[in-house]
Amino acid sequence: MPASATLSRTATLDETRRFMHDRLKSIIPEIEIEAKVELAHAIIERKREMNAVILGHNYMEPAVYHSVPDYVGDSLQLASIAAETEADIIVFCGVWFMGETAKVLNPTKTVLVPSDKAGCSLAEGITAQDIQQLKKRFPEAVVVTYVNTYAAAKGESDYCCTSGNADKVLQTLIDQGHNRILFLPDTYLAANTANELQVPYLNAQEEDAAFEAVPADQPLVIGWNAKCEVHELFTPEDVDNVRRQYPDAVILAHPECPPEVMAKVDVAGSTKKMVDYVRDVDAPRYALFTECTMGDNLAAEFPHRNMIRACTLRCKHMNYITLEDTLAGLEKLQYQVELAPDLIERARLPIERMIAIR
Ligand code: 13P
Ligand code: SF4
Repeated sequence: MPASATLSRTATLDETRRFMHDRLKSIIPEIEIEAKVELAHAIIERKREMNAVILGHNYMEPAVYHSVPDYVGDSLQLASIAAETEADIIVFCGVWFMGETAKVLNPTKTVLVPSDKAGCSLAEGITAQDIQQLKKRFPEAVVVTYVNTYAAAKGESDYCCTSGNADKVLQTLIDQGHNRILFLPDTYLAANTANELQVPYLNAQEEDAAFEAVPADQPLVIGWNAKCEVHELFTPEDVDNVRRQYPDAVILAHPECPPEVMAKVDVAGSTKKMVDYVRDVDAPRYALFTECTMGDNLAAEFPHRNMIRACTLRCKHMNYITLEDTLAGLEKLQYQVELAPDLIERARLPIERMIAIR
């Protein structure tokens, strides 16, 4: 289910104006909101005429997040919605790998991402050839790739996961008796998930002797060296600073943060888990250790909640997605996600397995 109430597909210009002003008034100057209203309404009309559905990731800038998406959510929620949509066109207001996932699930539909520059340092951090080599080195291993990868990497995998179900996917594989699990490419997500399940973790960069030292009948998570260029910047000192300034704050962090950060925070989880927590759990204030637009989006949606909005770390890839580009995307049918049929075939099963484990 979407985390937030979104604007109706049949909203008039006046309804669009009221919704956007109401949502955004505490975080964007009125004059800037007004400048976006007609643009948002043009997108709403266009998507209806074209039978398009707009999916918006939680990191979308507030003017996008609080206007045109039919659904907002984390990677897992949006992939699940993409798997079931009856729309002819899927517009993914998110980054490119998310559009690819939607395309794999909907090979005959048009899938658009409004910017062709919206990449991801994790997705760029591993190739299909890297995974082929890892499989040669660890032939007994089952391969799990994070959804933040391109389709070619997914095509080399047995399972995909998101930060929302990484623990469940890992536990499922351990329960099935897999003792060597390649968990790629995010070194921090892999280490954090292994820590959570109390399973040893080694990076594939280690010498063979390190792997041989772990008995073959015991589970071992083997990771890669990619990192999120945003979350890797959070430090344990940042957590200490927030605690010093706001001793009553609940600190929530995304598991793409370094393990030393995760060890100090109160709640770990995907962006959906953070949205749910802020909505459902009363606390004097909340600090989010994740892409900082989320704090703004939650402050706009839950004005009765006290969000600490001191953070300035933005994902440049997510920030490429604007209302202007979303309208241009619909009008020019750009940028279309195209994948070779054999790649779609190979990437489909790991993605479907990911959606099934929730
Ligand atoms: P979520 O799946 O938690 O939304 O995270 C996606 C992402 O890119 C985090 O950096
Ligand atoms: Fe990729 Fe990090 Fe941006 Fe998420 S925040 S899309 S992991 S670069």
